[in-house]
Amino acid sequence: MTYQVIIPAAGLGKRMRAGKNKLLLELNGVPILVHTLRVFEEDEACDGVILAIHPQDTKEINRLLQKYQISKVSDLVPGGDERQHSIFNALKTVEADGIILVHDAARPFIQKIHIHRLTQKAEDTGAAIMGVPAKDTMKKQKDGVVVETVERSSLWAVQTPQAFRISLLKKAYQKAEEDKFLGTDDASLVERLDFPVSIVEGDYDNIKLTTPEDLYFAEAIIKKREKEFY
Ligand code: CTP
Ligand code: MG
Repeated sequence: MTYQVIIPAAGLGKRMRAGKNKLLLELNGVPILVHTLRVFEEDEACDGVILAIHPQDTKEINRLLQKYQISKVSDLVPGGDERQHSIFNALKTVEADGIILVHDAARPFIQKIHIHRLTQKAEDTGAAIMGVPAKDTMKKQKDGVVVETVERSSLWAVQTPQAFRISLLKKAYQKAEEDKFLGTDDASLVERLDFPVSIVEGDYDNIKLTTPEDLYFAEAIIKKREKEFY
């Protein structure tokens, strides 16, 4: 069971308000991007990483790859205006078939065991995503008034990685481009082909670092893991 992974890292990190790409901010003295890359660097099942980056970060990211001896990045591709465009650029460089994962650089806490469960599911079914059951009660609202309480047990918060057969993901991205469809995740493009997407239970720690307070949650997760380790 091996896979390649596309890591979109070409965003601007506007909501983090750091004045630069949030992925270059450090956690425990190491850039967020490097935390994420290390997970795949250290996973023997990972055959290669395709990294989408913003042209303005090229020099700094090349420096980090050298400094932290990240050797699995097989391609550095320029990102696009939207995450989906960044991933499509990366996907175009993938030739062989097999399993491809897409994982946001902004989720540094993904763990190998979950990657492997997901990859296995995608091998069995063609398409699998990772998520966690919703903890909060969810309601639909319109103009500030509740319209409906949605049955919580059917709701999952979806994360990355998401894993697909390469030929399937290419087909989904081509169709999305033809239709000018912009989705908020990769699976939504595959769902449009009426292909069933499996969902695998992941880990509540696998947060996406989006706004400044997420950095405090990140520190707490690091502390928790240090405790678990010792
Ligand atoms: N991303 C990308 N290309 C884009 C936009 C986003 O590769 N045009 C990447 C980001 O670098 C991030 C992931 O997609 O790793 C998820 O996006 P998000 O968390 O929204 O990050 P940003 O777009 O950078 O942040 P913001 O939306 O706050 O500007
Ligand atoms: Mg964004």
